[in-house]
Amino acid sequence: MNRKVTVIGGAGNVGATVARAIAVKELADVVVIDIADQKAGGLALDMYQANPIEGSDARLIGGGDYADAAGSDIVVITSGVPRKPGMSRDDLLQVNYKIMQQVTEQIVKHCPNAIIVPVANPLDAMCQAVYRLSGFPRERVIGMAGVLDSARMRAFLAMELNVSVENIHAFVLGGHGDTMVPLPRYSTVAGIPITKLLSEERIKAICDRTASGGAEITKLVGTSAWYAPGSAVAEMVETILKDKKKILPCSVFLQGEYGIHDLFVGVPVKLGARGVEQIIQIELTQDEQAALAKSAAAVKELTDLIGV
Ligand code: APR
Repeated sequence: MNRKVTVIGGAGNVGATVARAIAVKELADVVVIDIADQKAGGLALDMYQANPIEGSDARLIGGGDYADAAGSDIVVITSGVPRKPGMSRDDLLQVNYKIMQQVTEQIVKHCPNAIIVPVANPLDAMCQAVYRLSGFPRERVIGMAGVLDSARMRAFLAMELNVSVENIHAFVLGGHGDTMVPLPRYSTVAGIPITKLLSEERIKAICDRTASGGAEITKLVGTSAWYAPGSAVAEMVETILKDKKKILPCSVFLQGEYGIHDLFVGVPVKLGARGVEQIIQIELTQDEQAALAKSAAAVKELTDLIGV
């Protein structure tokens, strides 16, 4: 194939799910890199051996050598410590920041033209670290959070209303943490705002469950989620590689948009071959704007702690 995606941390739960989704959809060749280099090689081989059955000619290789990543169109960063029950995403700050330092240095060296999709948590702060450390333009550092958060909200709405998940659009703004801002006004079922279909109490319950959706899985599974995060990354990768110009909620570096300056926060963006091609600005009510400002402040607390 003529497109290439590297997944750093690809021997882990989220990374392997991303690699597998890209291969099955035949979006690109995949390089799986991990400090667990043998495991990365083994998983890549296993996934490649599924290709004859899946009908995919995506090539997969894996190991610990970043030279293999050279020429990647996209580098996904899933390397990092996951949450354990009772931990917040913010608890991972220092340890995952060190990992971002190591991997970003390698990305700059081997993939200077790639689009980077950070996934490690705390997501928005890790994006900001990668952005600062890489010196890449803001169009090429795009955090995965909102696609996952809105998928969770869509799933909860589908369960509640007993309709197809495909009929549902859900809108989530803000940092990928407890302060995220689900927007019911802009969340729809076949174009109908959910505010016309559900009571305020039910909407609040669904928004709350969305905001703590990651913790819910972590508690049940014993570590953080990987299927929905993996699918969310794959959607972003597909959108970029096919230049689809889908509008997706992503964590991007805001420079005045939504009144937020020099900070990664989740907002709707148009994704295409060049990465972030447009930041979509929508009108917010006073309450929504205040909730977004609170969420941004929570991100800033973390970026200040690591000085990025
Ligand atoms: N370089 C390369 N790979 C690394 C490094 C490093 N410096 N440090 C850790 N890794 C690898 C681990 O070897 C492991 O295979 O990152 C992988 C992480 O995988 P898991 O422990 O299974 O974690 P996962 O559930 O995939 O989550 C990864 O994504 O959703 C977020 O909060 C989550 O920050 C976490 C990340």
